Amino acid sequence: SNPSILILPGDGIGPEVMAEVRKVIDWFGANTDAKFDVSEDLVGGAAYDAHGTPLHDDTMAKAQSVDAVLLGAVGGPKYDVLDFSVKPERGLLRLRKEMDLYANLRPAQCFDALADFSSLKRDVVAGLDIMIVRELTSGIYFGEPRGIMDDNEGGRVGINTQRYTTDEIRRVARSAFELARRRGNKVCSMEKANVMESGILWREEVQWVHDNEYPDVELSHMYADAGAMQLCRWPKQFDVIVTDNLFGDLLSDAAAMLTGSLGMLPSASLGQPMENGRPKALYEPVHGSAPDIAGQGKANPIACILSFAMALRYSFDMGDKADLVERAVEKVLADGLRTADLLGEEGVAPVSTSEMGDAVIAAIATL
Ligand code: NAI
Ligand code: MG
Repeated sequence: SNPSILILPGDGIGPEVMAEVRKVIDWFGANTDAKFDVSEDLVGGAAYDAHGTPLHDDTMAKAQSVDAVLLGAVGGPKYDVLDFSVKPERGLLRLRKEMDLYANLRPAQCFDALADFSSLKRDVVAGLDIMIVRELTSGIYFGEPRGIMDDNEGGRVGINTQRYTTDEIRRVARSAFELARRRGNKVCSMEKANVMESGILWREEVQWVHDNEYPDVELSHMYADAGAMQLCRWPKQFDVIVTDNLFGDLLSDAAAMLTGSLGMLPSASLGQPMENGRPKALYEPVHGSAPDIAGQGKANPIACILSFAMALRYSFDMGDKADLVERAVEKVLADGLRTADLLGEEGVAPVSTSEMGDAVIAAIATL
């Protein structure tokens, strides 16, 4: 049977950008051997409107059983008044938690046609293609004890705990080394082993995984603050960066902005391999539901289309098809097509969401 995909378009521009991904999936199904069984369901505010919960149990069960989940975006002003327990983002958090998606992949890739759009110099970013692997389910955002309490001297104290186990470090390190083997075969691990116990353990365990399981991959270590500097100075020195939840949050946002617009940034969150060897996986654009432009046909669908390309590569072992999608995106950008978010001072008229999607498919068909 065909590999299965669950599509969760969500709210705001989510359904608009996902409609373009759906066209790409349908094109592959009609013209190539990349055929998928696609089902669609609700998440976020859309699910709340229908069921009174941002993620129905049936949807959660479906997500657990498919080969990959594609998600658009969740949230919007309409839902800001809701109780925290049923807020749209709780739907996404539940998916990540119950699927145990511990490796968050954030590529920072610069398409040549957009190199002048970056805040950095063209030669620093042109052709950039790096991958940040952020640990997503542990570390200081989850560690106990935590809380705000009395300090017994009349003041208060806010506490968070950075805590990592051997297993948590090793499994995300394996994700990074596996990725590196499909890319430039180089991993740089970032922590603060100079001042943090968890950093010392992080460094030792990543080194252990390297020496025992991936000696063929080049491994280096860097303090995360120096890493932040190097990312801005000369990002092309990196291939795969692996780091913890907190540092990964900061470094991936910074790296993302090396390359330009939110409308261009895909992501993947991967977990343990399933029985068929595929990792549990959820693919989504980095951006949110963009209520300011929702319903106007202005959204850039490329982040969502590139998220599907990541699914082709990391869930379905269709790297050639993923390359095809990425080259098609490169081509439409080189041809000068721009959604509104990609317009500089050039005075070009923007194309709509569906015009951009159609152009990407036309390019796929000719490449
Ligand atoms: P946002 O990413 O939705 O929008 C930030 C800015 O970027 C807006 O000006 C928007 O128009 C623009 N933008 C975003 N994606 C774009 C695209 N594909 N094409 C063109 N322009 C794009 O972040 P914001 O405004 O902070 O949040 C809006 C809602 O989205 C909130 O309810 C928030 O909670 C939710 N959100 C959801 C996320 C998710 O589903 N993973 C992630 C971030 C925010
Ligand atoms: Mg962040």
